[in-house]
Amino acid sequence: MQLREQHDFASEQSLDLAPVNRKAYSNGESAARSSATTTSRFGGAGAKAAKTTDKPKSKAALKIEELEQECTRKDEAFAHQKQAFEQEKDTLKAENEQLATTCTELKSDVDQKQAAIVELRETVDDLQGKQSSLLQELDGLRSHLSHATSTIEQQTSEIKDLHDKVAALEACVKEHEQQAIVDEAERRRLHNMVQELKGNVRVFCRVRPFLSGEDASADEQPVACLDGKTNTLASCACSANVFSSIKLTVHPSAMVLCSWQVFDRDSTQAQVFEEIEQLVQSSMDGYNVCVFAYGQTGSGKTYTMLGGDDEGSRGMIPRAVEQLFQRQAELAAKGWEYTFKASMLEIYNEEPRDLLATPGSATKPVISWTAPVSNLSEFAVTVPDDVHELLQRAETNRRTAKTAMNARSSRSHSVFRLQIAGENKAAGEVCNATLNLIDLAGSERIKVSKVQGKEEKEAKYINKSLTTLKRVFTKLSQKDGHVPFRDSKLTMLLKDSMCNNSKCLMFVNVAPTAASASETKNSLRFAAEANKCHLGTARANSGTSSK
Ligand SMILES: Nc1ncnc2c1ncn2[C@@H]1O[C@H](COP(=O)(O)OP(=O)(O)OP(=O)(O)O)[C@@H](O)[C@H]1O
Ligand SMILES: [Mg+2]
Repeated sequence: MQLREQHDFASEQSLDLAPVNRKAYSNGESAARSSATTTSRFGGAGAKAAKTTDKPKSKAALKIEELEQECTRKDEAFAHQKQAFEQEKDTLKAENEQLATTCTELKSDVDQKQAAIVELRETVDDLQGKQSSLLQELDGLRSHLSHATSTIEQQTSEIKDLHDKVAALEACVKEHEQQAIVDEAERRRLHNMVQELKGNVRVFCRVRPFLSGEDASADEQPVACLDGKTNTLASCACSANVFSSIKLTVHPSAMVLCSWQVFDRDSTQAQVFEEIEQLVQSSMDGYNVCVFAYGQTGSGKTYTMLGGDDEGSRGMIPRAVEQLFQRQAELAAKGWEYTFKASMLEIYNEEPRDLLATPGSATKPVISWTAPVSNLSEFAVTVPDDVHELLQRAETNRRTAKTAMNARSSRSHSVFRLQIAGENKAAGEVCNATLNLIDLAGSERIKVSKVQGKEEKEAKYINKSLTTLKRVFTKLSQKDGHVPFRDSKLTMLLKDSMCNNSKCLMFVNVAPTAASASETKNSLRFAAEANKCHLGTARANSGTSSK
């Protein structure tokens, strides 16, 4: 019964081996020991039985044997399985370790990714912030754009209106320009008609103020003056107003008949210039113009023509030049283009000298019948300062000569020449003229001044040339066929500026002192001669431009 139970037990175990093995053989050694015990117990009895009885084995023994074999097999299977389990365990352990490593790696990877995610979130937040501000900016720009677009549309329509207006104005300007050309031609005609009516040779007397050291008590002393009507000399008081004195002393109607104007001692350079600016205008209209300053030494010729440096005392030359440039700019608006070329020379003892020559230059100007003057430096001037510079250079050259030749300035005639060329392409007109501004040498009678030697020689040359000048005026006034232009360098130089198409103006400069009375009379006589002269109807040197 016990064996059966054991067998049944073993059979049952074999039926469900895995749980039994895991349970019953969890301790393999105790199982093996139990089996060995069982085997020795059964084996001992069997061997005893076999020894004792060599009888066939009993069923039980067989069964035992069978069970033992079964046990052995199971043990082996168990061991096998155990080994398999061990291997599997190792494999699983390795896998587990591998998984743990992978897990650690993944964890760190996850950490990194999470950090990256945090960073990305921050970036996203930042970008979202930027996006929203950009969107706001975009909104602003959009509204600005729409405002600008509407402004542009408005301005475009305004520009179009302005274009229309400009086109209308341009047409108007063109019309006015045409009219201006016609008006300018008419203005020139009328201006020069007035000048002709005033006389092509005009004389002005200018009395200079007393200088320091002069006897001002001589103020009321009689100074010779001329009655323009009778052309005889009369005395008059050269007080505040010489002109009114002539009228009162000589003849009530003298002023009307006399074509002279007298500038008294208080007259300013600006007042004197008012009288010549009309002639300067004529030179731009194509008329040759000569302005002379005649008078005894120290009577104010150079002061009248060149003047001082300050605004009020600037003389006729700088003022004329300024007026020319001013007119040049004004006439440019009417289509006229003007160019000016300046030169300056002096004639001393009948020898011309270039006052603008480069120092040391040996070239001498030549005055001839065929060409007024050659070998003379000529400078294009575009602004008044250019002329100012040239005048200063001439002054330096003259001063050098003055030192070498002893006060030569009053002993030579100095001539400032400006060649004027104008062209109006639109009107197809051109005009050319020469403006001569002349500071004559001081007129003195040798008998009176009693000069000798070099001064006597100078005085003779001066007298000869001034006498020739007077004769030229006389012959021109008599309309005599032969006019002695060739008799002096000065008249030869000015020949073209003293003919028909020319206008002359002479300042007779006189000193206010009684001591100068004799020289003053002489000067006034000379001026009276010039004043009788009419150069005929002046014609402008103008014509049609070759287009
Ligand atoms: N209208 C005036 N107002 C003030 N000063 C004058 C005037 N006219 C002449 N003078 C002065 O008188 C002096 C002599 O004048 P200026 O040199 O012009 O005489 P001039 O006729 O040129 O003499 P010269 O024949 O010797 O060259 C100068 O000192 C000048 O400044
Ligand atoms: Mg002088």
